[in-house]
Formats: sequence, C-alpha cells, structure tokens
Amino acid sequence: MPYLRKEGVLCADDIPLSAIATQVGTPCYVYTWSDVTARYRELERALGSINARIRYAVKANSNLEVLRRMVELGAGFDIVSGGELERVIRAGANPSDVVFSGVGKTRQEVSFALKTGIGCFNVESVAEAHRIEEIAERLGLTAPVAVRVNPDIDVDTHPYIATGMRENKFGMPEDDAFALAVAIGRDMSHLHFKGLAYHIGSQLTELEPYADSLDAVLELRSRLLEAEVGCSVIDIGGGFGIRYREEEPFSFAELGELLAQRPLQEIELDVEPGRSLIGSSGVLLTRVEYLKPAAKPGYPDFCIVDAAMNDLIRPALYEAFHDVEKVTETEGEEREWNIVGPICETGDFLAKVRSLALQEGDLLAIRDVGAYGFVMSSNYNSRLRPAEVIVEGDVWEVSRRRESMADLLNLELG
Ligand code: LLP
Repeated sequence: MPYLRKEGVLCADDIPLSAIATQVGTPCYVYTWSDVTARYRELERALGSINARIRYAVKANSNLEVLRRMVELGAGFDIVSGGELERVIRAGANPSDVVFSGVGKTRQEVSFALKTGIGCFNVESVAEAHRIEEIAERLGLTAPVAVRVNPDIDVDTHPYIATGMRENKFGMPEDDAFALAVAIGRDMSHLHFKGLAYHIGSQLTELEPYADSLDAVLELRSRLLEAEVGCSVIDIGGGFGIRYREEEPFSFAELGELLAQRPLQEIELDVEPGRSLIGSSGVLLTRVEYLKPAAKPGYPDFCIVDAAMNDLIRPALYEAFHDVEKVTETEGEEREWNIVGPICETGDFLAKVRSLALQEGDLLAIRDVGAYGFVMSSNYNSRLRPAEVIVEGDVWEVSRRRESMADLLNLELG
C-alpha cells in the first residue's frame, strides 16, 4: 500500500510525508508512482483477453514527469488541446498513439495535430469534420477520425461531469453520427473513418451505463457495416470511478469481464482512464495556520490551512469529499472542524465537519488528489501554485517546483 503509517507518521511508500513538507514546504502535491504502476498493471491484466489499448487521459494530471513515466508503462494518450499534445510529445510519446478529443478544436490545433501524425481525431460535430477535411486537404494529408457518439445515457455522478446525455455538448446522437460516418466514408477524401468513440461521464461507479452504451454503439457499428462503412475502432472513453469515501466502484476486473462478454473480436478497443489510474496516488500536504472558534454556536470551528481552493478546487466546485488525515499522530481531544483556506470567499473550503485533534502547525494530508488536483489549480488571490513531488519506494524528486512571484509577474506589463 503506497500510503501507510510508520511509527505514527504517514508515509508515501518509504518516505515520511513530514520529511517532504520540511524540505519542499507546503502546500505541496505528492504522488506515489508505485500506486499508479499497480493500477496500470491491474487494468492491463483486466483487459488482457481483448485487443485493447490504454490511452491515459492527460487532463487528469499532465505533469511532464507523470507523462514520461506513463510512456514507460506503455500508455498511449487521450488529449484535449494543443498544449496537451505538446506535453505528451515532450514526454516522448509517439503522436500516432494519441487520440484528440474535445468539442472545440481550433484550426491551429487541428493543423498542429495533423502535422505531428496524430493517431485519431475524435470528431464531435459535422462542422468539425468539415474543418479537419479542409485543413487536411490544404496540407495534403489524410486525417484519421472517429465520430463521437452521444448515447444519451443517464449516469449517477455530479451533473458537471456527466457527458453522455442528449442535453450535454458532447458527441452526436446515433442517427447524426451514422450520417456523418457515411458521409466521411463516401465523400470526404481527406478523412479516414476509423470508428466510433464516446465518453459518458466521470467518476462512475456502476457498470450498467458502460454495458448500455457499448451495446448501443455496437448496434450503430453493425448499421455502418451494413452500409459498407468500415469501423475497426471503438473508444469507450474513461470515467471509471474511485473510492473517495464510501463509494464502491466496479473493479477493473469487472469491467474486463463485461468487455470480454461482448463481440469485440474484430475491434480495436480504446479506453481513456484518467482518475482511476492516478487519483488515489496523490495527497496534498498543507499546514494548519490558525484555529478559530466558530462564532455561531453548534457550528464546527475553523481550521485555517495554507492550501486553498486555488490549489484544490474540487470541494468548492463539486462539493467533492476528500479524506483529511494528520500526517503525525498526536494525542488530544477530537473536535469538529471546517478546514478552510485563506482565500476571500466563503466557498474556499477543502473539507467540512471533520473530527480531528488539531493544533496550529499540524501537517495535514488531503487524500486522493492525484487526478484533477494540481491541473485545476490557479493563481487566484496571487497565490503561487504548489510544488509537485513524485515518490517511488525510497526515492523522491520534485517534478515541478513551487512557482515564484517572478514567474507570475514576468507575464505582465512592467
Ligand atoms: N475521455 C474523455 C473524452 C473525457 O472527457 C474524460 C474526462 C476522460 C476520458 C477521463 O475521465 P476519467 O477517467 O478521469 O474520469 N474535473 C472533474 C473531472 C472532469 C472529467 C472530464 N473528462 C473532477 O475533478 O472530478
């Protein structure tokens, strides 16, 4: 297990988190690579019986060293911007192992991706298909494309991260996707139609929506084959949930079994996991600055820490739960706390109503922040973004240094 207590101190693999905080300062993100490797290999094993390819969703954590290590594990990538493409190339990825998703690819991004030899554009609209065709023609290239279907599947997750329902901006209804695929196959000579893609949402814990959406997309594939449009790729997206509190998400093995039961023999299957590979590997270290009693009787007291919503926005944005632990166990009476940051907004909280025995100066670890943690950070309130550290066994390194005020000001006039 990557996070265990040794002599009362929470450690990332063999390294006490207190030692990292002392050397690097707080707030600071820490990732244990042993955890990521274990999850990656588990997924690989689960997909062993089918022709599947893991395309890590870069948006979950795009730290360059993370991407380099993903390349070493053998991952391909799912990207959603030219910036992410630059990152994976710099990390050593082969662009032909990269799929480009997203509803708003700019001309510049399409042209850049085409020139690098991108593996596939997951196309989300007719207008986008025309744009890619036009740019490919100008460059004298053929663009590999899949059409993203919106299978209209209701999922049980936060509404901001459900993507596969009719009212969402993503993908196209089956009939429209069918018509576009046929048009690409017949009339758009600079596009090469490879298959169908979809992604129904994130932090999903039930398998049923995966079964339903895959069946719907396999049906659509059959219709395409009848219309003599070849369709060799199916990209089922990511979204596999993790346990933050009491969730009981399906396992990779269960997902593998579901896929093995489907007729996928002739198909190259892509999966785009982000959170499920890296979420549980990360903690955010933060120190208690002040303890402040609640003015209103019956309300939890305030524990004011040096991390804030700019460092980790998930609690403020989705009311997401992240477990909070003291790094060093100490005696004392537990009380209920709202753990808040220094930012001037009431929405600036990291955790609510947590029972802990706290003192000023205590070091806290906010758990399960390896995905959608640092990548969603900002400089709000002119706060400097935290450092990122990667631990593996008894070795650790700073994979991104803490920002300095000079980093921030250099971008501005005078
Ligand atoms: N593929 C596509 C096309 C996606 O849009 C996403 C996530 C993924 C793959 C990876 O999903 P994952 O396996 O990581 O669930 N910021 C939110 C999550 C947004 C996810 C957006 N799309 C959060 O903090 O929960």
